[in-house]
Amino acid sequence: MKFITTKTYEEMSNKAADIIAAQIIVKPNCVLGLATGSSPVGTYKRLIEDNKNGKIDFSTVTSVNLDEYVGLDVSNDQSYRYFMNDNLFNHVNIDKSKTFVPNGCAEDLKAEGENYDNMIKALGGIDLQLLGIGLDGHIGFNEPDAYFTGPTHEVVLDESTIKANARFFASEDEVPKTAITMGMMSIMQAKKIVLVANGAAKKEIVEKSFFGPIDPQVPASILQLHPDVTVIYSEN
Ligand code: GLP
Repeated sequence: MKFITTKTYEEMSNKAADIIAAQIIVKPNCVLGLATGSSPVGTYKRLIEDNKNGKIDFSTVTSVNLDEYVGLDVSNDQSYRYFMNDNLFNHVNIDKSKTFVPNGCAEDLKAEGENYDNMIKALGGIDLQLLGIGLDGHIGFNEPDAYFTGPTHEVVLDESTIKANARFFASEDEVPKTAITMGMMSIMQAKKIVLVANGAAKKEIVEKSFFGPIDPQVPASILQLHPDVTVIYSEN
């Protein structure tokens, strides 16, 4: 594992964007695993600039996102599909039909999960997965549990996650209670993983995840088993 510490959010974002840009340059038809949350926003901003300046071309890139709230569709500005359109896809030359986010409005979420994993397999797997980390150590929406879960699946969100994410909603009551998330299988099968985390509040969970024991109660700790992980942590 490579562990990089930076002083600023901007520096963290630039380092993550450099790795993603390199991935697109060496494999223009790559499959990028993408994440939502405030941590990757700066990375996406830099990638948008790179695209506008002609340094990277998204036209043959495919993307698969980690997760989606159950019950929120693209018209809801808190859905992760909306977030991705707004923070990246609408500003770069990616073919939207090649951007995938799990469908949180699917009638049969179990089938949706199976189809999502099969689709990732059919694409040849993920070349580079970008991750954030929740305060409780979740990656995607894989919450602390007695076991790690492999397939894409429905999850009940932890109270602490609902509280943490309430800042984006009008009130805590509006935060969906469940979500659909890629499981550890598709995440861990990615060829490369880049995780971004910033701020003093994340320091303890970052230390626990990468320097503590591998424990399903600390979901991100499973990344210690992956052969190519870069963690970029910014103190501010
Ligand atoms: C959400 C997402 C995660 C994300 C995490 C941290 O719950 N499902 O993918 O990593 O929150 O978000 P933030 O980067 O805003 O701290």
